[in-house]
This record gives sequence, structure tokens and C-alpha cells, in this order.
Amino acid sequence: MSQDEDKQITAYVSAYKNRRANEPSWITAATERRTLVEQALQKLELPVRVLDIGCGTGATTSWIGEEEGNYWIGVDTIDQATLGVQVPCHGEFVQGSFNDELIRNHANLRLPFDLAVDHGAIATSLQRADELADYLSRVGGRMRVGGIFAVLATCTPEGAPYNGTLPDGRARRFFAPRDFGQPPFSGLFRLDDTTVITYAPNSPSNPYSKVPGNDRPISIAHAILVKK
Ligand SMILES: C[S@@+](CC[C@H](N)C(=O)[O-])C[C@H]1O[C@@H](n2cnc3c(N)ncnc32)[C@H](O)[C@@H]1O
Repeated sequence: MSQDEDKQITAYVSAYKNRRANEPSWITAATERRTLVEQALQKLELPVRVLDIGCGTGATTSWIGEEEGNYWIGVDTIDQATLGVQVPCHGEFVQGSFNDELIRNHANLRLPFDLAVDHGAIATSLQRADELADYLSRVGGRMRVGGIFAVLATCTPEGAPYNGTLPDGRARRFFAPRDFGQPPFSGLFRLDDTTVITYAPNSPSNPYSKVPGNDRPISIAHAILVKK
């Protein structure tokens, strides 16, 4: 495991364990993240097979697996008890890093998915184009043609993309919204829609709000990508 991955896991475990005292920024944003998933789902015919990569508590997607006929699988590096993930009746949780070995070892991760979701998990943390391309082909390889990949990542609404770091040390790529329609995304996916949400400097959904005197807003982009 690289030092960056190690740092990231430590930051997540601490955030989930200290949830009551210090709610993690992405949990405070669960309602709008769920709405974005609902919008993506409206573009598909039911029933659906859903893969949530870096599912966390599952709050934004696991409800889909409560509906008859649907299937949900959530993957996260952190264990189920620490996350507090509620596994739906038509679904399962797999602990591990979403990589080729994990996929090889879990037959249900290999079946084609109608909807794949990465809300603030992996794409947002990949700062190198080659790593992003590898990841996109791993996800694309799990999806049926016409299926939707819903990606939520940090972004810079105007200006050039850049690499940055969150206050707890997590590496982040700040994408320009147009990036989602360009390589390496466009090799496998057609961009259907992008929504940008900006959180004020003092919003609990802004991870920089935990820094005393913060005056920095943060923006996230939600891209709906259709598998070619
Ligand atoms: C910012 S949280 C978001 C959780 C959830 N998607 C949501 O929107 O509420 C990111 C999650 O991704 C998980 N994660 C990060 N890298 C991962 C990887 N390589 N494989 C599986 N899960 C990962 C983390 O453990 C964490 O739970």
C-alpha cells in the first residue's frame, strides 16, 4: 500500500469513528448526493444492478437494493461495522480496495452493471491521467453499453484543473467540468450531463470549514457518463 493510500484510510477511519462529535463533510451532504443518484436512475429502465464504489454508509444508493428486482453491491476499504453500512435485502457489501484482485475474487463484481456510482471515492483522488485511465477502464469493464456511471468529484468551476489536498491530508484532483467530456473519460463514456454544487466556506459539507478562519468555498461536480 502506498503512503498516500495509507494516509487516506487513516483519515476515513478517523472520520467514521468520530462521526457523532465531528460529522464528516460527505455525510452532511448525503441528501443532495442521493438526489443526484435519483436523477441518474431516472435515465434507466428498472430493474437495475447497481455498483457503489466507495459506498461509505450506503446512504445515497443502498435504498435501490430494497426494491424488488434490483440488486446493489457496495465496496469500501473500511469494514462494515465502522462504516455503519445498512446492506439492503437485495444486496451485499464487500470490504476491500476496488482493484483487479478484488474483482477476480468476487463473481458478483464481474456481472455487468446498469449503474455504477463513485461519489467522492476514487476518481476524485486520482491526480495522474494514467491512473485515472486505468480506473475508468476497470469501471467501464463492469458496465453494460448504455449503462450510467455517476461520478462526483471535486472541481474548479472556472479555470484550469489542478491537484490539491484536503485539510485531513487526502489528495484530490480538482477537475474542470469540461474534463468529463474529454480523454480519458471520453474513450469509454459519453458525457450526458454535469451538475456543479458549491459549498460556502462555513458549510459543514465543505471540508475546509474545519480550518479556523477558512474563507475558501469548495465545488463538486456530478457527471452522468453513459457507457459507449
Ligand atoms: C468521501 S467518502 C464517500 C462515501 C459515499 N460514497 C458517500 O457519498 O457518502 C469516500 C469513501 O470511499 C472509500 N474508498 C476510498 N478509496 C477506496 C478504494 N480504493 N476502494 C474502495 N473504497 C474506497 C472510503 O473508505 C470512503 O468510505
